[in-house]
Amino acid sequence: MGKEQFKQRLERHHDELRWLYMELYQNDDMFGELCSQLYEYDKQRGKDLKQRDLAREKEPDWYKKNDILGMMLYIDNFAENLEGVEQKLDYLEQCQVNYIHLMPFLDTPKGRSDGGYAVADFHKVQPQLGTMEDLKSLTGACHKKGMNVCMDFVMNHTSEDHEWAQKARQGDGEYMSRYFFYKDYSIPAQYEKTVPQVFPTTAPGNFTWLPDAGHFVMTTFYPYQWDLNYQNPRVFNEMVYNFLYLANQGIDVMRIDAVPYIWKELNTPCRNLKQVHTIVRMMRMICEIVCPGVLLLGEVVMEPEKVAPYFGTVEKPECHMLYNVTTMATTWHSVATRDIRLLKLQMDIVNRLPKEYVFLNYLRCHDDIGWGLDYVWLMQYGIGEVSHKKYLNDFLTGQYTDSFARGELYNSDPTSGDARLCGTTASLCGIEKAAFERNDAALAQAVKLDLMLHAYMLTQSGIPMIYSGDEIGQENDYTYHKDPDRCADSRYLHRGRFRWDLAEKRMEKGSVQERLFNGIANLERIRKTTAVFNTDADVWTIETGDNSVLGIIRANASQKLVALFNFSEYDKYVHLEENEESYTDLITGTAVQGKDIQIPAYGAFWLYR
Ligand code: GLC
Repeated sequence: MGKEQFKQRLERHHDELRWLYMELYQNDDMFGELCSQLYEYDKQRGKDLKQRDLAREKEPDWYKKNDILGMMLYIDNFAENLEGVEQKLDYLEQCQVNYIHLMPFLDTPKGRSDGGYAVADFHKVQPQLGTMEDLKSLTGACHKKGMNVCMDFVMNHTSEDHEWAQKARQGDGEYMSRYFFYKDYSIPAQYEKTVPQVFPTTAPGNFTWLPDAGHFVMTTFYPYQWDLNYQNPRVFNEMVYNFLYLANQGIDVMRIDAVPYIWKELNTPCRNLKQVHTIVRMMRMICEIVCPGVLLLGEVVMEPEKVAPYFGTVEKPECHMLYNVTTMATTWHSVATRDIRLLKLQMDIVNRLPKEYVFLNYLRCHDDIGWGLDYVWLMQYGIGEVSHKKYLNDFLTGQYTDSFARGELYNSDPTSGDARLCGTTASLCGIEKAAFERNDAALAQAVKLDLMLHAYMLTQSGIPMIYSGDEIGQENDYTYHKDPDRCADSRYLHRGRFRWDLAEKRMEKGSVQERLFNGIANLERIRKTTAVFNTDADVWTIETGDNSVLGIIRANASQKLVALFNFSEYDKYVHLEENEESYTDLITGTAVQGKDIQIPAYGAFWLYR
């Protein structure tokens, strides 16, 4: 039975897979090896996982509804180690979370880890976090509770401590060819002409000189993260084997890290090249052959026109899910400007995409907020890119008197004037400042803004992702300033330890934690149980007559939701063209008369009929 099923799945994709593989590698032997290894990983795949695969094959749209709520967390910050996370699943259930993204946990050198994104061994868990057995046990426990587990598959590079890198450093040609090695700077210099920088201040340049090896090596990210050379079929094959090994530990969602960068070509920006899509398409087919229950989540932090192609086409799909990154960045632009026009435009772009496309919606993640906004559109109002980024950064780092936000800059580049931004949702919403100043009115306002943003995020189709700690309004963590391994990377500002002491306060009526925790829980309950939040609903934005109030409609055959969000600190009146007589606000359960509606400062309505 097992073999038959594998054969069927392989047959379905064999010709296309072979075609694409040959296009890249023209190597029959390596393709043969790949296919026989796929079968090995299929045989090793556990019985429970195979059942999960079958069920999901029968219901391929299982992740496209309104019943998934994700949370991303660092294992050590949240519960010390994998075993600890397993013991805390009850808390996650209380949060109604049924999808957890475990931030990088594979073996990585201390002090040269990039938050775990520099993997030294794809088969080993960081010892302080546990073992592969612990991971398997955790995924098993999650599955029993109906939870999905996501992990990062860092495929663009390895740590310089990875076995391949060590051998390459010693001059072993076979391993050097798995990276990009150059004797002198002439080719690197040519690359530098067309390849932009990811970390312009914390890790400038795209190459690193290795004095002991007498070579330059390509390092798009940090100098200790060596870019893998996917022109070498050995690299592709071995990385696929690593992928399948990890999938077989019970992972449901593989976040393919920094995927646009994986193919390099001289005289190009080395981003989003067509071969990247060939590789992602092959990975999708490989998943469908060996582990059809596993989803690919692409990390494509780019402008919308670059993101959508990673879904592939209906006949040739690539990623199952992608991040709604421009919407996220535009949200914070709207917070800082109290102007939703650009956000409305951005939502219109996303809403016009096919409903099959599943986005992960989020307010914050572990990375910085990069200001990838539509500057051409902003220019019609005379808003220039450099000055606007400066305004956003100044506002969100609390430089203006009316600014409530407490963020920090990230990779501030004095030459270009460019900088990105860090900070937790609560701190950016003003909770930190108001609590520090013991200003109750400001605190109430900040909590409202935070809840409004969550309501708005949950209004969008797709999978909402909560950043662990946001559900209790966790503030920035400044201790990284004193940690020599971390102080240069301000993303640690919003990667603090989970405050279980504060989580306890969610039981205290009226506390910030209780207001946020219960507020978000209420929203999520409504979202899960109201069909109009399903991805099959039509979604569009409406004019509200006020540039601070965003209006979104979700509608299916029988239900309609008019969602309104006030991004300003003033009460507003909006006039709805949709002048149905009366609605129920699902959030408060109260009746609201249509047409002229008063929406309080930072208020959110889910008006339903
Ligand atoms: C991704 C991760 C980021 C990391 C980078 C390099 O963008 O989200 O945290 O620094 O990849 O692996």
